[in-house]
Amino acid sequence: MKLTDREKRLLNGEKGKVPQQAMALLVKYGEALGAEEMVPVQHIYASSAFCANTDLTLATVKQCGGIKEYFSEFALCGDAGWEIPRMEHFATCLANNIDLDMWEEQEASREIYEMGLLADEFERGIDHLSAPSCAPYLQGISPIFAEHIASMESSAVSFFNSVIGARTNTEGIESATAAAYTGCIPKWGLHYTENRKGTHLVRVTVPVETIMDWGLLGFYFGHVVQEKIPVVDGISHRPSADMLKHCGAAAASSGGVELYHVVGVTPEAQDRNMAFQRGAPLEEFEFGEREKRWSYEMLNSGTSPYIDHVILGCPHYSIEQVFQFLRCLGRRKIHSDVHLWLMVPYTVKMLVIRQGYDKLMREAGVHIIAGACPILGGVYRKSAQSIATDSAKQAKYFRDMTGKPVYFGSMEQCIESAVSGKWIGSFC
Ligand code: F3S
Repeated sequence: MKLTDREKRLLNGEKGKVPQQAMALLVKYGEALGAEEMVPVQHIYASSAFCANTDLTLATVKQCGGIKEYFSEFALCGDAGWEIPRMEHFATCLANNIDLDMWEEQEASREIYEMGLLADEFERGIDHLSAPSCAPYLQGISPIFAEHIASMESSAVSFFNSVIGARTNTEGIESATAAAYTGCIPKWGLHYTENRKGTHLVRVTVPVETIMDWGLLGFYFGHVVQEKIPVVDGISHRPSADMLKHCGAAAASSGGVELYHVVGVTPEAQDRNMAFQRGAPLEEFEFGEREKRWSYEMLNSGTSPYIDHVILGCPHYSIEQVFQFLRCLGRRKIHSDVHLWLMVPYTVKMLVIRQGYDKLMREAGVHIIAGACPILGGVYRKSAQSIATDSAKQAKYFRDMTGKPVYFGSMEQCIESAVSGKWIGSFC
């Protein structure tokens, strides 16, 4: 690869062993992909190295001999004996596995909690911003249009690429951590304009108006295009950012969509011609009543009418969604057999407290959980018989990974069900 003088100096070890190892890793990675050069990045979104399945992480931390040693091996691909310096470039944590204030409600063990405390202290000690969220853009940590960034986490990648028009491939923990020590990432794939053109047309012939509708649409086109770049055309209503957030997350779970365009809405698709960069689609699909129902049926596997665990906020809820949630719940209380979790970014939890919503939630029996992902860490109420959610992504993952009956519906349907203890969702 063609390296700049700065990158060569890093590779020669002028800044120490960790940046040297990080640069060497990025060069290897870039060469494997045929990248010719690096691109500078100012925003790096790297998961906590400790966010994966909690039981497995705990066992591996023990095997490695501690938090620092685990980080060296798994995030840096380096030597356990190295001193780990502070990150040179601004990097923020994507979702973690537990909220350190809510670990008992999350049914995490004390040992997991204690590892979480140490890991959190370690991440903050190396300047990895410990405000974990899979929706960091909701916390004001956001790139701008056409900015090159390095991001992990499929729903975040989709939002950055599609809705903001920033440029990233889906990075892994090793490459994102290396970017935090070097400030660059191999330039390939979606960093190039020509690789961002739409490949498949999705003609929408049914109303798509709600977050639930956008989840069903994303789930459908992710399934049919897999890792290609769909262009959605024919929508009758302009979506909100939260709708697009759900759509992209769903498409990245049923397929591997990293970038999608919505004609007249997303920045690289002011019209169909622009979305396809004046080319023609390779294939066309229709999203009508039949396809919408197909998505719905794929996401609903529950048969018993009773529910005992409702999880909302995948991707993490915005403060507007929290507001809508409280408006819909009103003065009602969650059924005593049901655990309802609202997953949010840390800064949204702070706003919830500042606004006095936390008191209302406590009285209603709602648990607000910051920074965590129940799927990544496998931290959800294992004792639950079934799970209900308003997220297509989460419904798919819970169905595939836990085998528990799963119900998918709108936020309103999830609330009604959480209050009554029975699933009362429906397709329309
Ligand atoms: Fe976020 Fe986890 Fe869902 S990372 S998008 S809450 S599966």
